[in-house]
Amino acid sequence: MAATHSPASVKTYYDHLAVDYDNHRFGNSYGRFIDHQERRLLERWLTGVERERTLDLACGTGRLLAYAGQGCDLSAAMLAQAVNKAPQALLWQSDGCALPLADGALQAAFSFHLIMHLPPETLSLIGREVWRVLEPGGMWIVDFPSARRRSFGQRSDTPGWHGNSAYSCATLRHCLPPFELTRRGGFLFLPIHRIPQRIRPWLHAVDALCCCLAPSWASYMAVCLRKPVIC
Ligand SMILES: C[S@@+](CC[C@H](N)C(=O)[O-])C[C@H]1O[C@@H](n2cnc3c(N)ncnc32)[C@H](O)[C@@H]1O
Repeated sequence: MAATHSPASVKTYYDHLAVDYDNHRFGNSYGRFIDHQERRLLERWLTGVERERTLDLACGTGRLLAYAGQGCDLSAAMLAQAVNKAPQALLWQSDGCALPLADGALQAAFSFHLIMHLPPETLSLIGREVWRVLEPGGMWIVDFPSARRRSFGQRSDTPGWHGNSAYSCATLRHCLPPFELTRRGGFLFLPIHRIPQRIRPWLHAVDALCCCLAPSWASYMAVCLRKPVIC
């Protein structure tokens, strides 16, 4: 499923990309499309959650720090960009496998474009750590490339760790502590990269509807994992 990699190689990759990351990934109409969809999803799923007790785990350059009061990342260079973007947020450098937070400190966490870099064993470690720092009833929102969509031939496995890990909800359950999977969604059901740029902004509603009806067929799935109140 995933190529092996070390946190050091991931960190080095993002340390080098940091200055260009936002523009490189989200500066074109394809990137803006997914950015728009991710924001809408966070607005809906984080309703009623205290921002101060929400962590953007693997916040990168802070693209989504409008939805969290705290952020952490492996890469200091990515965090340096985040400091400029979200000076109000509490930011720190750490591996998601070892968060400097007390048990039950958070009401919510989210991690976008993180799991795609993780082999199952690292995902398990991070999942255990998120479980520890969430209060009972707290939620972790994650996205990941859909294994079902990937198997349809959208992209074949290539050597290297970057974006090479596709997951299903079943595999996720297998890797993680016993979170309740309370919501499913998705992004990029339509092959947006093949559609003329001027039409893309008009397709948000259609794409969102398709993702809602068949999330596992979207390019990326998003799920809300809740730590049970009694556990
Ligand atoms: C594709 S970027 C996503 C950044 C941000 N979440 C976004 O959606 O724009 C992946 C980020 O995950 C971070 N990362 C990778 N492995 C990590 C780990 N084990 N702990 C914390 N951060 C990690 C990288 O440093 C990088 O900033």
